[in-house]
Amino acid sequence: MPEMRALVTGGAGFIGSHLVEKLLEKGYRVHVIDDLSTGSRDNISHLEGNSRFECTIDTILNPGIMEKLVASCDIVFHLAAAVGVEYVIQNQLKSIEINIRGSEILFEQAGKAGKKVVLFSTSEIYGKSDVVPFNEEADSVLGPTTLKRWSYAVTKALDEILALAYHRERDLPVVIVRVFNTCGPRQTGRYGMVMPRFVKQALSGEPITVFGDGEQRRCFASVFDVVDGILKLAECDRAVGEIFNVGNNKETSILKLAGRVKEITGSASPIEFMDYEHAYGEGFEDMRRRVPDLRKIGEFVGYKPLTDLDGIIKSVIDFERK
Ligand SMILES: NC(=O)c1ccc[n+]([C@@H]2O[C@H](COP(=O)([O-])OP(=O)(O)OC[C@H]3O[C@@H](n4cnc5c(N)ncnc54)[C@H](O)[C@@H]3O)[C@@H](O)[C@H]2O)c1
Repeated sequence: MPEMRALVTGGAGFIGSHLVEKLLEKGYRVHVIDDLSTGSRDNISHLEGNSRFECTIDTILNPGIMEKLVASCDIVFHLAAAVGVEYVIQNQLKSIEINIRGSEILFEQAGKAGKKVVLFSTSEIYGKSDVVPFNEEADSVLGPTTLKRWSYAVTKALDEILALAYHRERDLPVVIVRVFNTCGPRQTGRYGMVMPRFVKQALSGEPITVFGDGEQRRCFASVFDVVDGILKLAECDRAVGEIFNVGNNKETSILKLAGRVKEITGSASPIEFMDYEHAYGEGFEDMRRRVPDLRKIGEFVGYKPLTDLDGIIKSVIDFERK
């Protein structure tokens, strides 16, 4: 098989850097484009001696650069985005621009050049639906446009719609993955991601702050499982034009997560509760449960998450200790 060339937008980020490592391991030639807005050079600096690795520090909003990079690859993994509810609340306009205009530039160029795109979408798309587990065909239940909280979900939903329209009308080969809470080494707690935040708080002896009553439940997946599943989908011809949930379907309450982090770190940090409004500002809405239906990705590529919650917590602790 000829050497495959992958372009990874957002490849200096948390998931992107793990994906790049795995692609290189599999023999791909990899080019990263990242503007380092939430990613970091530290995530990829260990790859810089690899002759099959290249990196451009620039924005995906630059059509000239994107045209060149798309032309010189076989497949694009599109991760570059304003990520996470808290970051988007703080940077609403900028995030709309990146998530919508950035994706449109990419789809247009990949469509013209006939290059496959793997679009990283999010479980946020299901919004506050309470019909769990979330199936790929299920309705999105989003709150009012006046609440900034829903902005992230809306931009990612429009990305999906745009990608499918390019697929149907301009033959863009696209695979859409809806990523559920993914954790592991290199994830930063700066923008409200709960796992690294709890681990940092526990290791520094600060209070572990649980938003709301802590009975909201989530499913945490290991970045290694998620990357493996997505790579299998990228290489599966049948997956083109399809949407897949990817993550872990084992639920845990946020309070229980705080307890596990405290126990595994051996921390003396107290567990404290904080109102959502104090954490995110007025009018914040959250969902009680968020569980992926993983049957489709299981049927297509035999995906099964292998790492349990304690394993994920330990990988984050090891990273933070280093
Ligand atoms: N981590 C999760 O649990 C999760 C859940 C659902 C979806 N996702 C999706 O997965 C993808 C990766 O997320 P992540 O958790 O690794 O976050 P991340 O913030 O670490 O990665 C995003 C990367 O994109 C880069 N970027 C942002 N704007 C850019 C621009 N204009 N041009 C070039 N690069 C730009 C950032 O610098 C960063 O390196 C995102 O699309 C996100 O929406 C992640």
